[in-house]
Amino acid sequence: MIKNPHEGKFIVFEGLDGSGKSTQAEYLVKKLKQEAAKVHKTFEPTQYLIGGLIRSFLGNDWKSSADCLQLLFAADRAYHLEKEILPALAKKLIVVSDRYFFSSFAYGALDCDLNWLIKINDNFLFPDLTIVLKSDPKICIERMAKERFSVELFEQVAKLEKVWQNYEKIIARFRIDNDIRVIDGDRPIQAIFEEVESILAKKNKDGWKS
Ligand code: ADP
Ligand code: TYD
Repeated sequence: MIKNPHEGKFIVFEGLDGSGKSTQAEYLVKKLKQEAAKVHKTFEPTQYLIGGLIRSFLGNDWKSSADCLQLLFAADRAYHLEKEILPALAKKLIVVSDRYFFSSFAYGALDCDLNWLIKINDNFLFPDLTIVLKSDPKICIERMAKERFSVELFEQVAKLEKVWQNYEKIIARFRIDNDIRVIDGDRPIQAIFEEVESILAKKNKDGWKS
């Protein structure tokens, strides 16, 4: 994977569905804008053509293999980097993304080989900072939908538990060379955001080299 060669900073929020990524990304972008920083907020899967194919796949409109889906996520990311992330970083913007390649590794490894997933993402830029929200799968599911049948809820919890184990595996693998912070996502929104702010403040003070 490639280090960011640009002056702009690339910040990614990761975690389970319902862990609060979009909320924290929004808070951060709002705060950076208040400070008059040049910032660009984005997300994956994207709103572009390949992102649309992915959403229709996830919505069961069409079917293919798990490998095909992961290749689509990688293609969506290649396009996202080319058209949006890299141009913004080159213009010295702070790019804040809700999900990036750790999502491919953590979710994709449920059905695909992790080393293959890493290989198909190998040409991509590593974020300058990845903030992973660690939230109890049960809390994530409660946040997403309060009214569900218990069996379905149990299946979902079991799946998210496996996804979280994959997150832990990849964090251990990549944190040696990269700045990856795992923070407790089971607190109130404002308490989590205060930690996000303090991470950013420290990086701005000490420098962004990971
Ligand atoms: P994600 O982007 O990780 O799927 P969201 O930010 O969309 O998660 O949050 C999912 C739901 O939980 C939203 O309704 C949001 O308002 C709520 N939420 C987010 N963070 C918290 C938190 N720390 N405590 C309680 N509810 C939260
Ligand atoms: P997301 O857009 O965060 O979900 P939603 O729009 O419903 O809030 O992501 C959709 C799902 O795709 C989510 O369960 C995580 C999964 N995902 C992967 O499996 N691989 C990836 O590379 C990405 C970016 C997401």
